[in-house]
Amino acid sequence: ATADRLALRGDLLDFTGTPAWGRVDDPAVRFRPDHWLLVDQGRVVGVAAEDPGEGWQREDHRGRLILPGFIDTHVHSPQLDVIASYGTELLDWLNTYTFPAEGRYADPVVAQAGAERFLDALLAHGTTAAVVYPTVHKVSADALFEAAARRGMRLITGKVLMDRHAPDGLRDDVTQAERDCRELIERHHRRERLAYAVTVRFAPTSTPEQLAMAGRLCQQDPSLYMQTHVAENRSEVDWVAKLFPDARSYLDVYDRVGLLHPRSVLAHGIWLDDEDHAVLARTGAQIAHCPSSNLFLGSGLFDWPRAEAAGVRLSVASDVGGGTSLSTQRTLADGYKVQALNGQRLTAWCGLHAATRGAAHALGLSEEIGHFGVDTLADVCVWDWAHGSVAEHRLSLARELHEKVFAWITLSDERNLVASYVAGQARYRRSP
Ligand code: GUN
Ligand code: ZN
Repeated sequence: ATADRLALRGDLLDFTGTPAWGRVDDPAVRFRPDHWLLVDQGRVVGVAAEDPGEGWQREDHRGRLILPGFIDTHVHSPQLDVIASYGTELLDWLNTYTFPAEGRYADPVVAQAGAERFLDALLAHGTTAAVVYPTVHKVSADALFEAAARRGMRLITGKVLMDRHAPDGLRDDVTQAERDCRELIERHHRRERLAYAVTVRFAPTSTPEQLAMAGRLCQQDPSLYMQTHVAENRSEVDWVAKLFPDARSYLDVYDRVGLLHPRSVLAHGIWLDDEDHAVLARTGAQIAHCPSSNLFLGSGLFDWPRAEAAGVRLSVASDVGGGTSLSTQRTLADGYKVQALNGQRLTAWCGLHAATRGAAHALGLSEEIGHFGVDTLADVCVWDWAHGSVAEHRLSLARELHEKVFAWITLSDERNLVASYVAGQARYRRSP
């Protein structure tokens, strides 16, 4: 067997298109139980029902679930230091926990150790690609890019922009920030699997001048991503209305400076109106829905089918440390509960799609990741269907595929993960 040719045997599950809201027998679901996923030089070259034979390095995961690697479209690497912090809503939580933790990332040693720990944690949760916030410090973005390159990962990040309403040591200024962005773009954007995101923390922490600078960067190079937060919490929305009295809405603060485009990723988007939804649909900007964070911080209940019906691109994200787990299954299980509180139901298919092919599509990366199509890069995870006796019993009683996969999402987490592959290379294996 040549080292370049890898064959993974198991129950292959991915999507060929977008599943419809509420539909449990959706034709976009592609389930190939006990098949072989064939990978040559890091790329998917096909799927076989039969053993491909001696020329392949074969890994037999019979009876296990094989999925495309998860894509976390909104997560803060330094906030692993404050995950699970008690007692506050967004604006207090930022001041009490988050900003002090982020201050430490000015130190290159802290930044590098944090980046390595964070990416290894993603891989140990079955997440192989991510859109990440480091801190305002250039070195924190540099460290993430370098650590991702060493792992061959698809990573989108950029230094955080904030030049007001943040403590000493966590503010930049327009001139220095622009210089730092340009240097980081030059060094990392489109190098290997890395891409730069113009990273506006959120409207309250940037001056209008800084927002304008960020918009110019995006307009000058349409291959750049943009990430920010929008309409997460009601006090935040009120604050933005006071800070930007001329804007029609919170989203409009970003729109009027040219920050909304097909590579924009806006976290949360809970408190948006119909006009905002139309703007998102028209510009192609996506919402990264973060249900774990929204429940933990008490931010509100995102209305998924409303955004979908408006034609808004959607993905799901952990938003650690506002979110309480890097596990995509836990995020989706929380997503189901958020919709249940809205009197609606999230299918396993809509959830899983948003964490794989849907996220890839929204990021413009569906030729590279998110499904098992030929020529995609083999970012793949192998999962146990059940961990522990309760899950084993429940899954054994499932009569059809949606029931089984829904129970898997609801009862599983990173303890079910057997291995993660990035471009066909094993980057995480559970210790035996
Ligand atoms: N809004 C601005 N900064 C943050 C952050 O770090 N986390 C969350 N959840 N919302 C934010
Ligand atoms: Zn966030």
